[in-house]
Amino acid sequence: MGGERGFLRRNEYKITCVMFKTKSQKKELAGEIMNEVIKNIQERRSVRSFTDDPVRDEDIATILECAKLAPSAIDGQPWFFTVMRDRALMDEISEMNKKLMLASGDPLMIKMASEPKFDSFCSAKTAIIISSETKAYYGMADCANAAMIITLVATSLGLGSCYIAGYTYVLRKPEGLAQLARLSLPEGYRPILGVCLGYAAERPVPRKPLRSNTSAFIG
Ligand SMILES: Cc1cc2nc3c(=O)[nH]c(=O)nc-3n(C[C@H](O)[C@H](O)[C@H](O)COP(=O)(O)O)c2cc1C
Repeated sequence: MGGERGFLRRNEYKITCVMFKTKSQKKELAGEIMNEVIKNIQERRSVRSFTDDPVRDEDIATILECAKLAPSAIDGQPWFFTVMRDRALMDEISEMNKKLMLASGDPLMIKMASEPKFDSFCSAKTAIIISSETKAYYGMADCANAAMIITLVATSLGLGSCYIAGYTYVLRKPEGLAQLARLSLPEGYRPILGVCLGYAAERPVPRKPLRSNTSAFIG
């Protein structure tokens, strides 16, 4: 990984050059950018099967740079991103999760863990683990914002992604302390969410119908 890169500055420069040609071109470009965002939101779906092609380092750098621009309560930015590519560790966490879930007595957990292809990391070779500072007031919301940005940027780069939270189950229990220690998190952070990344090897199933009565206008 190349650390912090100048991605946004480079693109801003590119956009500025085009925008200043003519007023109508400026409007057109603004429209294009906006439609691209809406298109990505409409096209993003969870992907749970990936090809063997690795995610490029420059794409990971772009994704992280954008994730760090997510809004956060009092601009606390209480996140820590771990780029996980250690498939052996992912398998270990997944296996331990499966065992715990099967022993949980919770019918939903048991049903999920009994899936033949159960994998807490959706068979991906790359995942971004998102941890929150435990003292942050709205750490879950802040990290969810970052996760959403990651999935949208991934979509725009032609990558499949899947939001994950289930992998944290074992890491919150005494059984998972050794695995948690291998994530190299700063003191006072704990993993709460994540996003699997890769090139899609499946077409997502059609969307469930959207729930109705989920908005209202007042005034
Ligand atoms: C907070 C959160 C946690 C999730 N955790 C998991 C997970 O652990 N494993 C998984 O396969 N999908 C997980 N998902 C993905 C959802 O199942 C998925 O977003 C939902 O079914 C809607 O499908 P779509 O993303 O294709 O629109 C999670 C999504 C959210 C928002």
